[in-house]
Amino acid sequence: MLEFNWKNVDSAVVGNEHGINVTKEFETHKDKIAQIVSDIYANKNTSGRWLAWMNLGYNEELVKEINDYANQIQGKFDNLLVLGIGGSALGGIAVTEALLKPYWNLLDKEARNNFPRIFFLDNIDPDQINGLLNALDLKKTLVNVITKSGSTAETMSQFMILKDRLSKELGAGYKEHIVATTDQEKGILRQITDEEGYKSFIVPDDVGGRFSVFSAVGLLPFALVGINIAEMLRGIRDLDKELANTDINKNIASQNALIQYLMDQKGKDISVMMPYSSKLRFISDWYVQLWAESLGKEKDLNGNVVNTGPTPVKAVGATDQHSQIQLYNEGPNNKIISFIRVREFDTELKIPNVFENTGVGYLCGKTINDLMNAEAESTKVALTDFKRPNVTITMPKVDAYSLAQILYLFEVQTAIAGGLYNIDAFDQPGVEQAKNYTYALMGRQGYEQTASELKEKMTTTV
Ligand code: PA5
Repeated sequence: MLEFNWKNVDSAVVGNEHGINVTKEFETHKDKIAQIVSDIYANKNTSGRWLAWMNLGYNEELVKEINDYANQIQGKFDNLLVLGIGGSALGGIAVTEALLKPYWNLLDKEARNNFPRIFFLDNIDPDQINGLLNALDLKKTLVNVITKSGSTAETMSQFMILKDRLSKELGAGYKEHIVATTDQEKGILRQITDEEGYKSFIVPDDVGGRFSVFSAVGLLPFALVGINIAEMLRGIRDLDKELANTDINKNIASQNALIQYLMDQKGKDISVMMPYSSKLRFISDWYVQLWAESLGKEKDLNGNVVNTGPTPVKAVGATDQHSQIQLYNEGPNNKIISFIRVREFDTELKIPNVFENTGVGYLCGKTINDLMNAEAESTKVALTDFKRPNVTITMPKVDAYSLAQILYLFEVQTAIAGGLYNIDAFDQPGVEQAKNYTYALMGRQGYEQTASELKEKMTTTV
């Protein structure tokens, strides 16, 4: 199971000015936390609360449906191309990078156990899209287009290009190369999917994009590249029992939500996520979206303007020791650093006995694992010496079970933090605004009024 260590935010370690008396704060906030946790769990199935993601770990029927489809098409495609953006892409990128063999797309078919390579297009850079399409053999490519709303311009424009190329290159059979993941009833992609007869999977109601990684949004691409999705769900269910506990002393999601919240209140309004593992590098990107879109809000639940929310920052150890740590140690003391540590790597890599008689001789006979651990420990201790609060989450190893747990932990933690901030953690009005402006600028029907207002604003602000 996951372990959570908060020792280095305690005032006994980093002092009163920068730390908090953790046990005292747990005691002070225990009733509030208990109320938030019981409210969240009691409303998992309440329509309009956007908490249905808490049920995804229990959806074994979906696992079966997805695995059946994955088995049916296994071996047919060399490439899986996923189209999506934001919550429809970040979880997929984070999990596949963590769980597939490193450099998956460079491995031959046998090393990939006959599963396809995987590519994500989560941007609309014309050079990138064109470059990827030129490199892929579309005859051997399955396209998974993912958009909950079914209308996101970035994803739909990519899909339009793909549909056009697939039908031109493959003729009538092109539909076998498309699988859509979208709303059950609403949205343009649903309409197209039904009309064209594509295979499709559903993004369930009351599951927002950034909380959708354990719906078909994530599980489908994971299963298609051979990731054990049943094991992921088992991890979630095991952890969920602990996270449902209303006692803060027994619930690590509550503990970290409260610590992060109190740190923000204390002026540490930057939350750095720093896994010591390259495989977990994109967990930081996923976390940044989850934390930023969920907690960065103009108004609280009572309608007061609060303009609240910590700023999440991504980092990866040991790489960013040589980029960001100077600032974190000596710059403004306005951050809380979250380390993710991996107890056991898949590989033990020995540093050979070469250059023994030089200044790097001390490395001989050690392992890269020893070095990674030493660097992680040293960074943590150094930060603590500089009185920079930090917490550590340790996972036993990077496997489907533990990885699902760490993502689910952050989701529940985010929901609890939303309760502490007294904001709606599940909407994103600030994103919608820019989306609507884009529709208006691109001439979408129904956005004419917005377009003329926008043109007016652009002449004065740009
Ligand atoms: O978390 C969110 O809600 C957003 O990041 C969405 O996932 C993103 O905007 C993409 O939306 P959609 O899946 O509707 O294309």
